[in-house]
Amino acid sequence: MIMTNAVMENILTRRTIRRFLTKQILEEELQTVLEAGLYAPSAGGRQGVLFVVSQDQEINKKLGRIKKKNSNVRMSTDTVYISKEQPSIADDPSIINAFYDAPTVITLFVPKDFLYGPYDASAAAENMLLAAHSIGLGGCYIGSAWDSFRDPFGQEILKQWNVRFDYYAALHVLLGYPKDEQAPKGKVRKEGRIIRG
Ligand SMILES: Cc1cc2nc3c(=O)[nH]c(=O)nc-3n(C[C@H](O)[C@H](O)[C@H](O)COP(=O)(O)O)c2cc1C
Repeated sequence: MIMTNAVMENILTRRTIRRFLTKQILEEELQTVLEAGLYAPSAGGRQGVLFVVSQDQEINKKLGRIKKKNSNVRMSTDTVYISKEQPSIADDPSIINAFYDAPTVITLFVPKDFLYGPYDASAAAENMLLAAHSIGLGGCYIGSAWDSFRDPFGQEILKQWNVRFDYYAALHVLLGYPKDEQAPKGKVRKEGRIIRG
């Protein structure tokens, strides 16, 4: 028997959303999600993660295409898939934008020389995804964000964004209003993953 409260309810009902309305999210919604990211735990309390927000649809579309092109995903099969309801790029080869046309793309950058950078970014991302869900937004975690900048356009964007040269893109958090009324169903949790030592 587990205990329930609003936080647990939010954790249990959050699902990855890959189908978004084109309408942009409100500034206060964006600020709320960013605040959740800023308050995530970080190794040594260093708060090293930088959050770059892009709501430029042209740039997001181009970076999403670069990401797709550079993503070396193992394609899904009839029995092994990521999501039937809201397919990922591994489920549906016809998806050309790895950002699924989300109106807001936040890229989390971390210091190149810091071992815990990706862990910090990941903790921030989950805080952000939970905050997004709690206010009715849809969100998606996109890993290996360096792939999105691995071509001349991507490099140009990094310069435009003025990202420090000693930082790299760890992951993206996509945000937008969910297109589907019904959220995808979560997969059944695998058994035997909790071991009592
Ligand atoms: C490290 C990490 C990387 C991920 N990368 C991607 C990605 O590149 N594209 C994508 O569509 N989803 C990505 N996801 C989302 C997962 O596919 C999703 O969390 C998983 O299928 C479980 O679904 P749920 O979040 O609805 O429980 C990633 C999640 C994690 C934790």
